[in-house]
Amino acid sequence: MSQYSNFNLSSELPAWKRLESVYEQVGKTLKVKDEFAHDPERFAKFSETFKNFDGLEILFDFSKNIINDEVKKDLVALAKEAGVEHLRDEMFKGSKINETEDRAVYHVALRNRKLKEMKVDGENTAPEVDSVLKHMKEFSDDIRSGKWTGFTGKAITDVVNIGIGGSDLGPVMVTEALKAYSKEGLNVHFVSNIDGTHLAETLKGLSQETTLFLIASKTFTTAETTTNANSAKAWFLEKAQQDDIAKHFAALSTNAEQVAKFGIDTKNMFGFESWVGGRYSVWSAIGLSVAIYIGFDNFNDFLKGAEAFDEHFTSTPLEHNVAVLGGLLSVWYNNFFGAQTHLVAPFDQYMHRFPAYLQQLSMESNGKSVTRGNSFTNYQTGTILFGEPATNAQHSFFQLVHQGTKLIPADFILAAQSHNPIENNLHQRMLASNFFAQSEALMVGKDENQVQKEGATGGLVPHKVFSGNRPTTSILAQKITPAALGALIAYYEHVTFVEGAIWNINSFDQWGVELGKVLAKAIGKELDESGDVSDHDPSTNGLINQFKKWSS
Ligand code: F6P
Repeated sequence: MSQYSNFNLSSELPAWKRLESVYEQVGKTLKVKDEFAHDPERFAKFSETFKNFDGLEILFDFSKNIINDEVKKDLVALAKEAGVEHLRDEMFKGSKINETEDRAVYHVALRNRKLKEMKVDGENTAPEVDSVLKHMKEFSDDIRSGKWTGFTGKAITDVVNIGIGGSDLGPVMVTEALKAYSKEGLNVHFVSNIDGTHLAETLKGLSQETTLFLIASKTFTTAETTTNANSAKAWFLEKAQQDDIAKHFAALSTNAEQVAKFGIDTKNMFGFESWVGGRYSVWSAIGLSVAIYIGFDNFNDFLKGAEAFDEHFTSTPLEHNVAVLGGLLSVWYNNFFGAQTHLVAPFDQYMHRFPAYLQQLSMESNGKSVTRGNSFTNYQTGTILFGEPATNAQHSFFQLVHQGTKLIPADFILAAQSHNPIENNLHQRMLASNFFAQSEALMVGKDENQVQKEGATGGLVPHKVFSGNRPTTSILAQKITPAALGALIAYYEHVTFVEGAIWNINSFDQWGVELGKVLAKAIGKELDESGDVSDHDPSTNGLINQFKKWSS
């Protein structure tokens, strides 16, 4: 049994068992449309407003979900029985809740802008976190003002972040989402894929004189990143000298030794600690490209927005705690309705990489099948998260969400104010009307009678019927500011936390990515050698040998 939970399988908790019968008796047949009809308070009852530190608000409307008072009560009871509050408090105390790696889970300490005492192993993290942020401020200010110059004295115009997974997805997503806050003439690029095309295409048109590389890797041993970084260095040295590297390469890492070995001056290293998980690292030095792109003050607001959300998460009773409610709904659909997926559709073009970012956050965290008590779960865990920005998504896969055979709970995100209110805000009004229409359509559907009234007859009728009662959560922000984005990310981090706490899995390790890495290393050696391979299964042997023939 783990010291961080007093149960092993959540399916054995009394609240879980109660929910099984609540699902049979209530959930299965509950029609959200009817609930609205007989409860005028439903919207007010099942929606919550989060107020950020700057006064801007985000409305979370959970009322179009397949719940009623009884379901909510039992879901909240499940969170209590599963010890969500206890685990949350342990996380915020810096306890080593990542048991399989014997590490604290302390990304929340990175956004501790109030500089509260937050200790790991008896040591306050706040001074060190603050000092790295000061270094980031100095560095990003210098790059943005042109004070930092390259080896020929020219200002930096292009920043290339080389990293993968959490050392890429966070910065890519945030720089895209907050593009409206960027500075003209300063571009950011992201290279993650080992496919040489990614680096080659990125470097086309860049000049060694004005390019800064940020090598972002928590471990500094990730094959894709070190290979891309070495190739970037080779490209740089085509025009520059070894001594010039200091002006064009910085490292964002926890591994000073490997950074020095690579040839980056550790003065240009921005560190963080092993208690920051890769997928939670955008708040750390890994966010340097963000600070450079949108300016440090905006980056600081981004951190403060997340900090404000952390305060909501730690101090709001479970019944009104939006991350707890989001996590509980996910468990409700996953484990009682048998839903396998979760759709996140931002109605915001700048947020086009948000679902990709959330995929790592959610699926690397909760794609586990062993409990903290070391036994296999007898219930489903990690949801398959996917998404694309709307309205594009409406014209591609929303058909399946409306009329397919699967239940796909969805989150829709919209900002009331656009950064680009072109054509007298016409585009924003059209975007918003789709945001409202989609969740309404998914809930109310359209029955046979209505279809017939509209003139359809015979065999066409069932094709035009929408079953409705398809659950959505609408998230309406006033504006996607750095602070709002920080809060939204923190919301999803804590939703993921709540899910993991209820499933009693460790959301903070990622052993599942190891096997493929080890095999790839071994196969890499075989590809360097001539001759056929025969040590693998017949399919793998066949593929490798065909590749060798075709690529030589
Ligand atoms: O392989 C998975 C992973 O370890 C992620 O968890 C992490 O975000 C990514 O690789 C990159 O790791 P690093 O920052 O150490 O290069």
